[in-house]
Amino acid sequence: MAHSTDNLNADELDRLLQQNRHWAKVTAQAQPDFFTKLESQQSPRFLWIGCSDSRVPANQILGLLPGEIFVHRNVANVVVHSDLNCLSVVQYAVEVLKVEHIIVCGHYGCGGVNAALLGQKFGLIDNWLRHVQDVYKRNQTCVFELSDHKSRLNKLCELNALEQAINVAETTILQDAWSRGQQISVHALVYDLHDGILKRLGRGIAGATDIETHRLLLA
Ligand code: CO
Repeated sequence: MAHSTDNLNADELDRLLQQNRHWAKVTAQAQPDFFTKLESQQSPRFLWIGCSDSRVPANQILGLLPGEIFVHRNVANVVVHSDLNCLSVVQYAVEVLKVEHIIVCGHYGCGGVNAALLGQKFGLIDNWLRHVQDVYKRNQTCVFELSDHKSRLNKLCELNALEQAINVAETTILQDAWSRGQQISVHALVYDLHDGILKRLGRGIAGATDIETHRLLLA
């Protein structure tokens, strides 16, 4: 394939591919069976549902290797009961991979949550962010009582993660898993871009009866 030095995009992609080769080499040198083991089996114990934000990569911030966490990301870590994409990930993770923990992770300073809070217009994505605006509308009083924008935004980031965790717990997938006696918990977390620290929001949902307790954390 011809290599064009005046094509900046191609050069950038070449750089990525070079980095990939370097990574594959270093990884195989450190652990010669790394790729053969991974190729033969995937058995993660965690499912991560997080924001698409490039600053919040699940594996890196948890210190996990490839193969250790199943990941679904979308703008503002939203879980909607009619989203076939997200539901398929959850179903496969719960019923086939049999993960033991589902983490719904929001992050402070989330651009999607900020747009929802301010009612900013970005195009098609505004429709998706309506789901976050719904969270805001349901919890307007406790967000609005905070004095500055940053505190309001961060509060809404937390509330959104809590509410999306409830949405996971209310799916037929989790309800059925719990009625079968499957051990699986749903956790809401929030990530701080400022210091890289993850914080738990509440104690998590380990069964259908925990949902109402979890809901009390809202408002
Ligand atoms: Co975000």
